[in-house]
Amino acid sequence: MSSRSYTRYFLYTLLATTPVYVASQQTAAAQVAAAYGLTTSTSLPFPSATQSPSDTDNTIMNGWSLGKGRIQDGDANLAFVADPFPNNPAPGSSTNATGPVLQTTYNANTFGSEDSGAQFYNLWNTSDGSTFQTMIVSYEIAFDQDFDWVKGGKLPGIRGGLNSTGCSGGNASNGKDCFSTRLMWRKNGAGEVYAYIPTTNGLCSQSGVVCNSDFGISLQRGSFGFVSGQWSRVTLVVRLNNPPNVANGNVQLYFNDLKAIDQQGLQIRSASSVTANGFYFSTFFGGSDSSWATPNTVHTYYRNIVLYGGSAPSNLTGPVVNGAGRTATFGLGTPLLGLVLGGVVSLMLL
Ligand SMILES: *[C@@H]1O[C@H](CO)[C@@H](O)[C@H](O)[C@H]1NC(C)=O
Ligand SMILES: *[C@@H]1O[C@H](CO)[C@@H](O)[C@H](O)[C@H]1NC(C)=O
Ligand SMILES: *[C@@H]1O[C@H](CO)[C@@H](O)[C@H](O)[C@H]1NC(C)=O
Ligand SMILES: *[C@@H]1O[C@H](CO)[C@@H](O)[C@H](O)[C@H]1NC(C)=O
Ligand SMILES: *[C@@H]1O[C@H](CO)[C@@H](O)[C@H](O)[C@H]1NC(C)=O
Repeated sequence: MSSRSYTRYFLYTLLATTPVYVASQQTAAAQVAAAYGLTTSTSLPFPSATQSPSDTDNTIMNGWSLGKGRIQDGDANLAFVADPFPNNPAPGSSTNATGPVLQTTYNANTFGSEDSGAQFYNLWNTSDGSTFQTMIVSYEIAFDQDFDWVKGGKLPGIRGGLNSTGCSGGNASNGKDCFSTRLMWRKNGAGEVYAYIPTTNGLCSQSGVVCNSDFGISLQRGSFGFVSGQWSRVTLVVRLNNPPNVANGNVQLYFNDLKAIDQQGLQIRSASSVTANGFYFSTFFGGSDSSWATPNTVHTYYRNIVLYGGSAPSNLTGPVVNGAGRTATFGLGTPLLGLVLGGVVSLMLL
């Protein structure tokens, strides 16, 4: 490990609440994409000058191929602004340090997707009608220097399925029409992947997996740590399980090009019609009650959003799915209760 990586490893250990950071060799998004044969890529276009929120909305609506052509939530909270941290780029960044960055505002005392932050769904279509079975999104992110993490919040990731009400916001996934894999920050900036996917094959009892009351599944909380006042790079890899009844799906997360999460044995979908459709920009404080609210008006910033895609799903081995997917009831109880209910449902289905 280089001294630089070592310093970062040390920092994560200091900053993450439950550090289980796994050091590994540096891997850039393009290299990961090449390793999985993802020959197609696209970058979301940024303007050359800063823009007001309404001009920003127009730029995004006209140029970022949005689902339903619109920004779902928080259009007033988006603006292209000057880089707030020009002297603190992500490690190894080859970025355009002079261009504007996308700012998202979280107003004081807000939480939840309707009042805090912003949401939109970028649909990335192939030109030949084929589907994406493996997708990577890489972007750079920064948090205000004085960002109060409170209990946590959502951060952008990858989404599949065109159902805008399923697979986020408290509508659990059965894998038949959607999935989502976003990131979250938690207390003290601890990072995780937050997935709406089926919980088959005892997923909730696996190491580092937390199935909580707001329906998403936390993967490896604290395996990396966000740091305020500087840029970081995240690279999220989603390899869909195939066939749909085999749990061989894979989600990986690289933080500043170091692999922090490699979750295997996932059933991300239960129908082959569900594919990876694009970048899900979804960020807000929460959580669904005021204990998640931000006390101050704060911001996050984004740039260099790049997607890579390919038509080959995961080729890992995995078990055949042997239990019913989680029902909505699951999230209301404890994971243990969920397991019991899951078992009862499985028996009923047999
Ligand atoms: C799985 O895919 C990877 C990446 O495309 C490839 O390197 C590897 O050889 C494949 N493994 C099998 C068992 O086919
Ligand atoms: C880089 O910044 C310049 C000037 O600010 C802008 O014109 C250009 O589009 C940017 N390039 C990318 C790839 O974002
Ligand atoms: C991409 O595909 C989706 C779903 O079929 C469609 O709604 C959207 O308009 C397409 N976008 C573009 C730019 O073709
Ligand atoms: C959208 O997804 C939710 C939750 O998965 C499901 O209950 C609902 O029926 C879906 N709607 C459509 C139109 O597919
Ligand atoms: C769940 O989805 C339904 C539509 O299928 C929607 O009306 C409802 O608001 C969603 N629930 C939450 C908590 O977002």
